[in-house]
Amino acid sequence: MKALIFTAFILVSVAQASRDWSKIKPKRLSVVPRIPAPAPKIVGGKEAEPHSIAFQVAVLEGFNFCGGSIIRDDAVLTAAHCVDKARSTEVIVGAHNIQEEEPTQQLIRSKAIRVHEDWDSFKVLNDIAIIFLSRKIALDQTARIVKLNKDKTTLVGVTAIVSGWGRFSDESSSLSNYLRYGEEEIISNQECKLYFGSYVTKTNVCLNGSNGVGSCTGDSGGPLVIVRNNETVQVGIVSFGVKGSCETGSPTVYTRITEYNDWIDKQLES
Ligand SMILES: *[C@@H]1O[C@H](CO)[C@@H](O)[C@H](O)[C@H]1NC(C)=O
Ligand SMILES: *[C@@H]1O[C@H](CO)[C@@H](O)[C@H](O)[C@H]1NC(C)=O
Repeated sequence: MKALIFTAFILVSVAQASRDWSKIKPKRLSVVPRIPAPAPKIVGGKEAEPHSIAFQVAVLEGFNFCGGSIIRDDAVLTAAHCVDKARSTEVIVGAHNIQEEEPTQQLIRSKAIRVHEDWDSFKVLNDIAIIFLSRKIALDQTARIVKLNKDKTTLVGVTAIVSGWGRFSDESSSLSNYLRYGEEEIISNQECKLYFGSYVTKTNVCLNGSNGVGSCTGDSGGPLVIVRNNETVQVGIVSFGVKGSCETGSPTVYTRITEYNDWIDKQLES
Protein backbone atom coordinates (compact mmCIF):
# COMPACT_ATOMS: atom_id res chain seq x y z
CA MET A 1 0.00 0.00 0.00
CA LYS A 2 2.87 2.31 0.71
CA ALA A 3 4.83 1.54 -2.42
CA LEU A 4 4.35 4.24 -4.96
CA ILE A 5 5.96 3.65 -8.27
CA PHE A 6 6.91 6.30 -10.75
CA THR A 7 7.54 5.04 -14.20
CA ALA A 8 9.69 7.92 -15.20
CA PHE A 9 12.16 7.85 -18.03
CA ILE A 10 14.21 10.67 -19.40
CA LEU A 11 15.32 11.56 -22.90
CA VAL A 12 16.38 14.54 -24.84
CA SER A 13 13.98 15.33 -27.60
CA VAL A 14 14.62 17.14 -30.80
CA ALA A 15 12.41 18.24 -33.63
CA GLN A 16 9.52 15.96 -34.57
CA ALA A 17 11.20 15.00 -37.83
CA SER A 18 14.14 13.36 -36.11
CA ARG A 19 12.31 12.08 -33.05
CA ASP A 20 13.04 8.40 -32.44
CA TRP A 21 9.67 7.06 -31.34
CA SER A 22 11.13 3.70 -30.40
CA LYS A 23 12.83 5.42 -27.47
CA ILE A 24 9.82 7.33 -26.21
CA LYS A 25 8.58 6.05 -22.89
CA PRO A 26 4.93 6.57 -22.01
CA LYS A 27 4.44 7.80 -18.47
CA ARG A 28 2.21 6.37 -15.76
CA LEU A 29 1.81 6.89 -12.07
CA SER A 30 0.60 3.90 -10.11
CA VAL A 31 -0.03 2.74 -6.58
CA VAL A 32 -0.46 -0.68 -5.02
CA PRO A 33 -4.16 -1.33 -4.63
CA ARG A 34 -5.74 -2.38 -1.37
CA ILE A 35 -7.80 -5.16 -2.81
CA PRO A 36 -7.28 -7.29 -5.89
CA ALA A 37 -9.80 -6.67 -8.62
CA PRO A 38 -11.42 -8.94 -11.20
CA ALA A 39 -9.51 -9.06 -14.46
CA PRO A 40 -11.23 -8.26 -17.72
CA LYS A 41 -9.02 -8.74 -20.74
CA ILE A 42 -8.66 -5.31 -22.26
CA VAL A 43 -7.87 -1.79 -21.28
CA GLY A 44 -10.46 -1.05 -23.88
CA GLY A 45 -11.36 1.93 -25.91
CA LYS A 46 -11.27 2.54 -29.61
CA GLU A 47 -9.42 4.65 -32.11
CA ALA A 48 -10.84 8.17 -32.17
CA GLU A 49 -12.23 9.73 -35.31
CA PRO A 50 -9.26 11.90 -36.42
CA HIS A 51 -9.38 15.30 -34.67
CA SER A 52 -12.69 14.60 -32.97
CA ILE A 53 -10.95 15.24 -29.64
CA ALA A 54 -9.26 18.41 -30.88
CA PHE A 55 -8.38 19.71 -27.40
CA GLN A 56 -6.11 16.69 -26.78
CA VAL A 57 -2.37 17.34 -27.00
CA ALA A 58 0.80 15.31 -26.48
CA VAL A 59 3.35 16.55 -23.96
CA LEU A 60 6.94 15.49 -24.53
CA GLU A 61 9.59 16.07 -21.92
CA GLY A 62 12.72 14.32 -22.93
CA PHE A 63 11.82 10.64 -23.34
CA ASN A 64 8.68 11.08 -21.24
CA PHE A 65 5.34 11.03 -22.98
CA CYS A 66 2.14 12.43 -21.50
CA GLY A 67 -1.16 13.90 -22.56
CA GLY A 68 -2.67 17.31 -21.93
CA SER A 69 -5.52 19.57 -23.00
CA ILE A 70 -5.77 23.03 -24.54
CA ILE A 71 -7.34 25.46 -22.05
CA ARG A 72 -6.25 28.70 -23.77
CA ASP A 73 -4.53 29.40 -27.08
CA ASP A 74 -1.24 29.61 -25.17
CA ALA A 75 -1.84 27.23 -22.25
CA VAL A 76 -2.08 23.46 -21.77
CA LEU A 77 -3.38 21.64 -18.70
CA THR A 78 -1.56 18.46 -17.64
CA ALA A 79 -0.58 16.44 -14.56
CA ALA A 80 2.14 17.60 -12.17
CA HIS A 81 3.85 14.21 -12.35
CA CYS A 82 4.34 14.71 -16.09
CA VAL A 83 6.37 17.90 -15.83
CA ASP A 84 7.58 18.25 -12.22
CA LYS A 85 11.19 17.66 -13.21
CA ALA A 86 11.05 19.44 -16.56
CA ARG A 87 12.69 22.73 -17.36
CA SER A 88 10.94 22.79 -20.72
CA THR A 89 8.62 20.59 -22.74
CA GLU A 90 7.31 20.26 -26.24
CA VAL A 91 3.62 20.14 -26.97
CA ILE A 92 2.14 18.56 -30.11
CA VAL A 93 -1.28 19.91 -31.06
CA GLY A 94 -3.55 18.66 -33.84
CA ALA A 95 -2.20 15.11 -33.99
CA HIS A 96 -3.96 11.85 -34.71
CA ASN A 97 -1.09 9.53 -35.64
CA ILE A 98 1.41 10.84 -33.13
CA GLN A 99 4.36 9.02 -34.66
CA GLU A 100 4.00 10.70 -38.02
CA GLU A 101 4.41 14.25 -39.14
CA GLU A 102 0.85 15.15 -40.06
CA PRO A 103 0.13 18.48 -41.76
CA THR A 104 -2.33 19.37 -38.98
CA GLN A 105 0.31 19.06 -36.26
CA GLN A 106 1.71 22.10 -34.48
CA LEU A 107 4.85 21.54 -32.44
CA ILE A 108 5.25 24.25 -29.82
CA ARG A 109 7.85 24.58 -27.08
CA SER A 110 6.95 25.68 -23.58
CA LYS A 111 7.70 29.16 -22.29
CA ALA A 112 7.02 28.34 -18.65
CA ILE A 113 5.76 25.40 -16.61
CA ARG A 114 3.73 25.96 -13.50
CA VAL A 115 3.38 22.92 -11.23
CA HIS A 116 0.97 23.19 -8.29
CA GLU A 117 2.85 24.58 -5.25
CA ASP A 118 1.49 21.78 -3.06
CA TRP A 119 2.11 18.91 -5.46
CA ASP A 120 2.98 15.93 -3.27
CA SER A 121 4.37 13.00 -5.21
CA PHE A 122 4.22 10.65 -2.22
CA LYS A 123 0.57 11.19 -1.42
CA VAL A 124 -0.20 11.99 -5.09
CA LEU A 125 -1.92 15.20 -4.04
CA ASN A 126 -2.53 18.21 -6.30
CA ASP A 127 -1.43 16.41 -9.46
CA ILE A 128 -1.97 19.39 -11.74
CA ALA A 129 0.23 21.70 -13.81
CA ILE A 130 -0.10 24.28 -16.57
CA ILE A 131 2.30 24.60 -19.49
CA PHE A 132 2.51 28.08 -20.99
CA LEU A 133 3.49 28.01 -24.63
CA SER A 134 6.18 30.06 -26.38
CA ARG A 135 3.72 30.95 -29.14
CA LYS A 136 -0.02 30.80 -29.62
CA ILE A 137 -1.73 27.75 -31.03
CA ALA A 138 -3.41 28.41 -34.36
CA LEU A 139 -6.90 27.32 -33.30
CA ASP A 140 -8.91 25.47 -35.93
CA GLN A 141 -10.89 22.26 -36.48
CA THR A 142 -7.93 20.22 -35.23
CA ALA A 143 -6.96 22.43 -32.27
CA ARG A 144 -9.73 23.54 -29.95
CA ILE A 145 -9.96 24.92 -26.43
CA VAL A 146 -11.81 22.67 -23.99
CA LYS A 147 -14.26 24.10 -21.50
CA LEU A 148 -13.41 23.32 -17.87
CA ASN A 149 -16.07 22.07 -15.48
CA LYS A 150 -17.20 24.58 -12.83
CA ASP A 151 -20.21 22.66 -11.61
CA LYS A 152 -19.34 21.05 -8.26
CA THR A 153 -21.62 18.01 -8.46
CA THR A 154 -20.17 14.61 -7.54
CA LEU A 155 -20.68 13.33 -11.11
CA VAL A 156 -21.36 9.80 -9.79
CA GLY A 157 -22.99 7.68 -12.49
CA VAL A 158 -22.14 10.11 -15.28
CA THR A 159 -20.48 8.61 -18.36
CA ALA A 160 -17.08 10.13 -19.02
CA ILE A 161 -14.59 9.87 -21.86
CA VAL A 162 -10.84 9.48 -21.37
CA SER A 163 -8.40 9.79 -24.25
CA GLY A 164 -4.74 9.43 -25.02
CA TRP A 165 -1.95 7.75 -26.95
CA GLY A 166 -1.15 5.48 -24.01
CA ARG A 167 -0.73 1.72 -24.14
CA PHE A 168 -4.01 0.02 -24.83
CA SER A 169 -3.16 -3.41 -23.44
CA ASP A 170 -0.62 -4.87 -21.05
CA GLU A 171 0.92 -6.71 -24.00
CA SER A 172 1.76 -3.55 -25.91
CA SER A 173 4.90 -2.00 -24.50
CA SER A 174 4.80 1.14 -26.56
CA LEU A 175 2.44 3.95 -27.34
CA SER A 176 -0.56 3.68 -29.56
CA ASN A 177 0.04 5.39 -32.92
CA TYR A 178 -3.48 6.69 -33.09
CA LEU A 179 -5.36 8.67 -30.49
CA ARG A 180 -7.73 6.40 -28.61
CA TYR A 181 -10.60 6.96 -26.23
CA GLY A 182 -12.74 4.97 -23.86
CA GLU A 183 -16.09 5.61 -22.21
CA GLU A 184 -16.84 4.60 -18.65
CA GLU A 185 -18.95 5.64 -15.68
CA ILE A 186 -17.74 7.83 -12.85
CA ILE A 187 -17.96 6.07 -9.47
CA SER A 188 -18.12 7.57 -5.99
CA ASN A 189 -14.89 8.45 -4.20
CA GLN A 190 -16.01 6.17 -1.39
CA GLU A 191 -16.11 3.23 -3.82
CA CYS A 192 -12.73 4.26 -5.23
CA LYS A 193 -11.17 4.37 -1.76
CA LEU A 194 -11.87 0.65 -1.40
CA TYR A 195 -9.08 0.19 -3.93
CA PHE A 196 -6.73 3.08 -3.22
CA GLY A 197 -7.36 4.03 0.41
CA SER A 198 -6.06 7.44 1.40
CA TYR A 199 -4.55 8.06 -2.04
CA VAL A 200 -8.05 9.08 -3.06
CA THR A 201 -9.27 12.41 -1.64
CA LYS A 202 -11.99 14.89 -2.52
CA THR A 203 -9.58 16.35 -5.06
CA ASN A 204 -10.00 13.21 -7.19
CA VAL A 205 -12.65 11.72 -9.43
CA CYS A 206 -12.59 8.01 -10.35
CA LEU A 207 -13.77 5.85 -13.24
CA ASN A 208 -15.20 2.38 -12.81
CA GLY A 209 -12.60 -0.07 -14.13
CA SER A 210 -14.58 -3.29 -14.10
CA ASN A 211 -15.78 -3.00 -17.68
CA GLY A 212 -12.24 -2.97 -19.00
CA VAL A 213 -11.95 0.70 -19.87
CA GLY A 214 -9.44 2.97 -18.24
CA SER A 215 -6.38 5.09 -18.67
CA CYS A 216 -3.02 3.34 -18.99
CA THR A 217 0.65 4.12 -19.34
CA GLY A 218 1.19 7.18 -21.51
CA ASP A 219 -2.23 8.68 -20.91
CA SER A 220 -1.08 10.66 -17.84
CA GLY A 221 -1.98 14.34 -17.87
CA GLY A 222 -4.66 13.84 -20.50
CA PRO A 223 -8.28 14.92 -20.26
CA LEU A 224 -11.32 13.19 -18.76
CA VAL A 225 -14.45 14.82 -20.19
CA ILE A 226 -18.21 14.54 -20.04
CA VAL A 227 -20.84 15.81 -22.45
CA ARG A 228 -23.35 18.08 -20.72
CA ASN A 229 -26.09 19.98 -22.55
CA ASN A 230 -24.44 19.00 -25.81
CA GLU A 231 -21.18 20.54 -24.70
CA THR A 232 -17.89 18.79 -23.93
CA VAL A 233 -16.56 19.72 -20.50
CA GLN A 234 -13.30 18.57 -18.92
CA VAL A 235 -13.87 17.13 -15.44
CA GLY A 236 -10.53 15.43 -14.74
CA ILE A 237 -6.83 14.98 -15.52
CA VAL A 238 -5.39 11.45 -15.80
CA SER A 239 -3.47 10.94 -12.54
CA PHE A 240 -2.89 7.35 -11.46
CA GLY A 241 -3.94 3.70 -11.58
CA VAL A 242 -2.98 0.36 -10.17
CA LYS A 243 0.64 -0.75 -10.17
CA GLY A 244 1.76 -3.41 -12.61
CA SER A 245 -1.19 -3.66 -14.92
CA CYS A 246 -3.85 -1.64 -16.66
CA GLU A 247 -6.05 -4.71 -17.01
CA THR A 248 -6.92 -5.58 -13.43
CA GLY A 249 -10.34 -3.99 -13.56
CA SER A 250 -9.43 -1.51 -10.84
CA PRO A 251 -10.73 2.04 -11.07
CA THR A 252 -8.53 4.74 -12.57
CA VAL A 253 -8.03 8.03 -10.74
CA TYR A 254 -8.12 11.61 -12.02
CA THR A 255 -7.47 15.07 -10.61
CA ARG A 256 -10.89 16.68 -10.08
CA ILE A 257 -11.05 19.94 -12.05
CA THR A 258 -13.62 21.70 -9.86
CA GLU A 259 -11.23 21.54 -6.88
CA TYR A 260 -8.78 23.64 -8.88
CA ASN A 261 -10.93 26.24 -10.67
CA ASP A 262 -9.46 29.06 -8.56
CA TRP A 263 -5.90 27.79 -8.91
CA ILE A 264 -6.26 27.55 -12.70
CA ASP A 265 -7.83 31.02 -12.97
CA LYS A 266 -5.04 32.48 -10.86
CA GLN A 267 -2.32 30.96 -13.06
CA LEU A 268 -4.01 32.16 -16.24
CA GLU A 269 -4.34 35.70 -14.86
CA SER A 270 -0.74 36.07 -13.73
C1 LIG B 1 -18.85 -0.92 -12.19
O1 LIG B 1 -19.30 -1.69 -13.28
C2 LIG B 1 -19.69 -2.99 -12.93
C3 LIG B 1 -19.96 -3.77 -14.19
O2 LIG B 1 -20.85 -3.10 -15.05
C4 LIG B 1 -20.91 -2.92 -12.01
O3 LIG B 1 -21.33 -4.21 -11.64
C5 LIG B 1 -20.51 -2.13 -10.77
O4 LIG B 1 -21.63 -1.96 -9.93
C6 LIG B 1 -19.93 -0.78 -11.14
N1 LIG B 1 -19.38 -0.17 -9.95
C7 LIG B 1 -19.91 0.92 -9.42
C8 LIG B 1 -19.28 1.40 -8.17
O5 LIG B 1 -20.83 1.53 -9.93
C1 LIG C 1 -25.25 19.53 -30.54
O1 LIG C 1 -24.07 20.06 -31.11
C2 LIG C 1 -23.86 19.71 -32.46
C3 LIG C 1 -22.49 20.18 -32.88
O2 LIG C 1 -22.20 21.44 -32.36
C4 LIG C 1 -24.99 20.29 -33.30
O3 LIG C 1 -24.81 19.95 -34.66
C5 LIG C 1 -26.31 19.74 -32.79
O4 LIG C 1 -27.37 20.34 -33.50
C6 LIG C 1 -26.47 20.01 -31.30
N1 LIG C 1 -27.65 19.33 -30.80
C7 LIG C 1 -28.50 19.90 -29.95
C8 LIG C 1 -29.62 19.03 -29.50
O5 LIG C 1 -28.39 21.05 -29.55
